[in-house]
Amino acid sequence: MSITPRARPNVEKMSGYTPGEQPRPGERVVKLNTNENPFPPSPRVVEAIRSIDPERLRRYPNPSAEEFRQTAARVHGVSPDMIVAGNGSDEILAMAVRTYLGPGDVFAYPDPTYSLYPVLAEMGEVRVVTVPWDAGWDLPVDALLGTGARAIFFANPNAPTGTLVPTARVRALAARFSGLLLVDEAYVDFADENSLPLLHEFPNLIVSRTLSKGYALAGLRFGYAIAAPAVVSEMNKVKDSYNCDAIATRAATAALQDQDYARRSWEHVRAERGRLSEALQRRGWQVIPSQANFVLATCPGGNAAAIYRALKGKGILVRFFDKPGLTDKLRITIGTAEENDQLLAALSAP
Ligand SMILES: Cc1ncc(COP(=O)(O)O)c(C=O)c1O
Repeated sequence: MSITPRARPNVEKMSGYTPGEQPRPGERVVKLNTNENPFPPSPRVVEAIRSIDPERLRRYPNPSAEEFRQTAARVHGVSPDMIVAGNGSDEILAMAVRTYLGPGDVFAYPDPTYSLYPVLAEMGEVRVVTVPWDAGWDLPVDALLGTGARAIFFANPNAPTGTLVPTARVRALAARFSGLLLVDEAYVDFADENSLPLLHEFPNLIVSRTLSKGYALAGLRFGYAIAAPAVVSEMNKVKDSYNCDAIATRAATAALQDQDYARRSWEHVRAERGRLSEALQRRGWQVIPSQANFVLATCPGGNAAAIYRALKGKGILVRFFDKPGLTDKLRITIGTAEENDQLLAALSAP
């Protein structure tokens, strides 16, 4: 007799993470919906992938992505034992939850934010307590502390708002919190400040980074965490043995080594972010000041779903969230100057 096995009750109840839509291969769209970098990765990345020795594929990769950790340590001015690499920063977030949160533990974060956090909590039967952002998208320090959480996460810059909590405010929370504090810096390359200076003050801090945005490698799947060696050592125990493959490790290392190339794309995105924000405002949109590679904007008239569908009909993808507080807004990734112009033209056309 064959019967479908029952999943764990918490898994049966889950709906899982909903990724942004991806066009079919060959489909031509202006893709401003998943916060990818509008430029290709560094030519050094392409060269590193092309020149990979097949012998490196016959063997298992280095289990801790050693060459990447050495490079990341140099770039950030920390020691290699403060770095752990992951298959995208999503895996880093999952590893942090697995390491620090068990069934029933309180996991707190300000909301709205990255929609993966509740999914990770459901998987681990962790109890989520969300707290609204303070006015002006400020970090709700007291409310977060009041949850009695074992771990607090927040994205900085935040998604989907693009807003940045200044380092001084992050410090104000870290100084009063003794659980695990994870600052998800997926978009930090486009921002004015970051939390790395706090690592030397707070042994309970994890800073999570990705190569998906700032280094144009979302398809490669590579992220990393920077934290005190004792934290990294605990996270190493729960990671898959060979979580980063040999090709990805080589390519990610080459990307980090080419800081000049990456920086040029960050500068372009920042300039275009300003230009697009102003152009949207002139068309009657309210744009939340962003420090990320996207903007969250309230559309004139408030019917964001209709504008989302109309843009899609013209081959332009942006992100619409059918969630309370967000239904009058669209999240728009900063594209190339041409892509941003195409978006603006489409919004102006009847
Ligand atoms: C806030 C935030 N953190 C992490 C990620 C995941 O990035 P990665 O591609 O490194 O898994 C995303 C992706 O969109 C994000 O928005």
